[in-house]
Amino acid sequence: MTDREQDGVAAQWDTSFDATARIVDDDSNADERQVEAALRPKRLDDFPGQVRVRDQLGLVLTAAKGRGTPPDHILLSGPPGLGKTTLAMIVAGELEQPIRITSGPAIQHAGDLASVLSSLAEGEVLFLDEIHRMSRSAEEMLYLAMEDFRVDIIVGKGPGATAIPLELPPFTVVGATTRAGLLPAPLRDRFGFTGHLDYYEAGDLVTILHRSARLLGLDADEDGIAEIASRSRGTPRIANRLLRRVRDWAQVHGESRVTHPAAQQALELFDVDARGLDRLDRAVLDALCRRFGGGPVGLSTLAVAVGEEPDTVETVAEPYLVREGFMVRTPRGRAASALAWDHLGLAVPLDAPGLWSATLPLDEPTGGRFGT
Ligand SMILES: Nc1ncnc2c1ncn2[C@@H]1O[C@H](COP(=O)(O)OP(=O)(O)OP(=O)(O)O)[C@@H](O)[C@H]1O
Ligand SMILES: [Mg+2]
Repeated sequence: MTDREQDGVAAQWDTSFDATARIVDDDSNADERQVEAALRPKRLDDFPGQVRVRDQLGLVLTAAKGRGTPPDHILLSGPPGLGKTTLAMIVAGELEQPIRITSGPAIQHAGDLASVLSSLAEGEVLFLDEIHRMSRSAEEMLYLAMEDFRVDIIVGKGPGATAIPLELPPFTVVGATTRAGLLPAPLRDRFGFTGHLDYYEAGDLVTILHRSARLLGLDADEDGIAEIASRSRGTPRIANRLLRRVRDWAQVHGESRVTHPAAQQALELFDVDARGLDRLDRAVLDALCRRFGGGPVGLSTLAVAVGEEPDTVETVAEPYLVREGFMVRTPRGRAASALAWDHLGLAVPLDAPGLWSATLPLDEPTGGRFGT
């Protein structure tokens, strides 16, 4: 497929809402977003990784189809770029139902939601992205709609206002959130199935990258793909983006294949280091270690130090840094682990969390490790 044809396919699927923008997550460019959309798997069988969520979801959907009724409402949570929007579209595809797409920030008033709900067809899938950002009044309307398939339309104002109930056909809400903890319990309880997406194993990213390379018409070596996978922060969106940057690098350097050296050099150029940390990740660790002596430090102070919104630091950088053991969360704030100091090439303080349990790479050049 040519790029132009890719874009054509992509345009039909380009319905995602993406909140963050940086090199490993840079979707400020519309073409990039379209290519990304074209790379979305369309069926559950074609969706590598997240085995547990995939199997559970497969069961829920198959059972519902067998009964001929819409499935329970579905909530998908997890860090950006792991496949929540993709899975929402797959749900509609597997059910062979149309999907209506909106997002929390787009629903500022209950009336906005009422107009969406009242136009839903029977069995339709309503995808509510960033559901934690919906207004409180809309949330209350959604409780009723999800549980009783009804909305109360308020007519008039003040003491004379009356509620006219409007019956809705059964439908399925698929909610997506990067911040499941922010959802009020009554809303969370109305989802019959919750799938939490976690970072992908390198093996799954390799599968995803091979598939993307095929769709993009790229020749790729196993080593080249493995190198990209290991630097992708466990995130398919990042893996696909890095693949395209390596493709650019190879093309400009007159190479026709994605090879290991091409991957290494391209990713160095784009500031993605060997552990997959990008500039924001390293800025966070750098601020923690150099400016705050390793912490603990509060989220908002840390965010100001790196010039980002606290929400971005908390949902984009932090989950991966914590998971990989670079950062720890304490009741008094965020702290850098021994691994973080070592990764930045700085002397590891003797009280750094994880110093005595960390397996630091002994052959890596570091600062005067274990010095102070
Ligand atoms: N399991 C997967 N297999 C192949 N590609 C995937 C998979 N998961 C995600 N992707 C790719 O990663 C991109 C990002 O996925 P998606 O938009 O579904 O993430 P998201 O969880 O909705 O992120 P956000 O929280 O930013 O909205 C997609 O365009 C898709 O190409
Ligand atoms: Mg999404």
